Formats: sequence, C-alpha cells, structure tokens
Amino acid sequence: VLAIWHQLTKAEIPELAKCSVLMRDRSRVEDTIGAMQRAGAGRLQVISDFDMTLTRFAHNGKRVPTTHNILGHRLLIDEDCSKKIRELLNTYYPIEIDAGRTAEDKLPLMVEWWTQVHELLIQQRIRKDLLAQAVKESSAMLREGYKVFFDRLTEQQVPLLIFSAGVGDVLEEVIRQNNVFHPNVHIISNYMDFDQTGVLRAFKGQLIHTFNKREGALSHASGLRVLQGRPNVLLLGDSLGDLTMADGVSEHQNILTIGFLNDQMDERKELYVKSFDVVLVKDETMEVPNAILKCIT
Ligand code: C5P
Ligand code: MG
Repeated sequence: VLAIWHQLTKAEIPELAKCSVLMRDRSRVEDTIGAMQRAGAGRLQVISDFDMTLTRFAHNGKRVPTTHNILGHRLLIDEDCSKKIRELLNTYYPIEIDAGRTAEDKLPLMVEWWTQVHELLIQQRIRKDLLAQAVKESSAMLREGYKVFFDRLTEQQVPLLIFSAGVGDVLEEVIRQNNVFHPNVHIISNYMDFDQTGVLRAFKGQLIHTFNKREGALSHASGLRVLQGRPNVLLLGDSLGDLTMADGVSEHQNILTIGFLNDQMDERKELYVKSFDVVLVKDETMEVPNAILKCIT
C-alpha cells in the first residue's frame, strides 16, 4: 500500500536525473512537486530573478550582458563612463559571488556598487528613446527554452513575478523584443525616472540590489493582488540573495527553489545545494524548470 501511495504523491521527472542537477533531498523535491501538482495551476505563482536566471550567463564562451551592462552601449554613454562601469563590475562582481563572505558583509558593498553606477548613468543623461535600439544591438539573450516557459505560464494563467536588481526599463525591453511580455508578467525592479524631455534624471523608489530583495518582497510583492490566494511558489534565482524573493508570500504552503549555479562552481556548490532545493550546474537552458512546470500545471 505504501508503495502505491508513493507513486501517487511523488512526481516523476526524468530531467531531474541529469548529471547537471543537484539536490540535497530528491525525495522532498518530488513530494513538493507532487503537492503542487495536486493543488493545480490556480494555486501557483512563479517568482523569478532576471539577470543570469532568465537570461543566459554566457553564450559561445562570452558573457551575456546584464541589464546594467546593456546600458554600456555607445549610443547611451561615452567611452570613459563605459570604462568606469566595467571597472566597477570587475571590482564588485567577485565580491557579490564570493562564497567566503556573508550576505551581511556584502550588503554595504553592493549598495556602493549600485549607487556609483546609477550616478554615472544619470550623469550621462541617458535618453529613453534610445533604449530599445541599445537592447536590439546588445547580445542580451534569454535562456534556451524561455518561450515555452513564458508561454506555458500565460496559457495556464499563472502569474510570473520577475524580481530584479537590474534595470526595469531595460528588462522590459528585453522581454518585449523576445515577444514574451505577456499580461501575466509582473515586474519589481529599479526603474529609471526620466524628465519631460526623456532624459534620465534619477532612479525611482528604494534601490534594489542582490541582497535586499527581502525588503522589496515585503513592501511590494506582498501587496500584489494577482499573487494572492496562490500559496505554492516556484522560485528561480542565481544568487543566494534571490532566496528571499518569496518572503512576502503570506500563508505559503509549498515553496520549491531552483538555483542556477553559473560561476565559481566548485567554490559554491556545497552552499548552493544547502540553500536551494534544486541546483542546476552550468545549465544554460530552462529545460528543468519547464519539465517541473509541465508536471505542476
Ligand atoms: O536581475 P538580477 O537581480 O539578477 O540583477 C542583478 C545582477 O546584475 C547582479 O547579479 C549583478 O551581478 C549585476 N549587476 C551588474 N552591474 C551593476 C549592478 C549589478 O552587472 N552595476
Ligand atoms: Mg541574477
């Protein structure tokens, strides 16, 4: 009897057997997916990070730009500024992903990074009407299988909250140009504030960086009506800071977290397996999230 019960409750997903998939507790993952499946699409919400989670980390051996780095286009900023932004990236990105430092330790440094870059961008008087072209000419790229992911969530009327410490205006343009900015997509991010002539003058609201997503979750996500009554959460991220994106979900029942481990694999593997339910090592596709979604919805 027990064996039959097991078959009924456990989700069978062959994609989870791939060698790039690591799980601390496979049985728990299957139970959670099984419970989410029984509850159905009407009880589900998906919360995802953007840069290096929905977008690829690298393509043909070259890093894919984050939303901030897309703004480095010569159309928008001058060479000197672009160089400064790259230098800041070289200084702070290694800190962001350093397995030897705590999030608490990194937090003030992330604020430094984002604040300096935002100030530089504002000084450049970026023009709103050039953003679309800069995105078009960039090498921004969503993960393979992204269309299946976005389209399925739309078909099943499952809200997708994209929660990004990147730049919202750029993020929107990336998903618009890939034809997946569907009505079920909701975004929390850093948005640009343009003056009447369409020139960047500030960033709106409270700064979101990699390690303060919990605050954004509590102040913004928890208030989104479309997410209410959906206690099951599929969470996707590439940073440990992304794990707090679901902190605003009240009365949650089942949360399954998927972490893309893109960089510093050996140094961070243990930490990621301890922190995320499913870890995808150097996987540039949406294959596993899509297989899980197909099972749940
Ligand atoms: O969408 P997500 O929250 O992942 O966006 C934040 C990412 O953007 C960070 O992981 C960081 O590495 C990157 N970033 C960047 N340049 C900045 C600030 C952040 O590439 N100036
Ligand atoms: Mg990210």
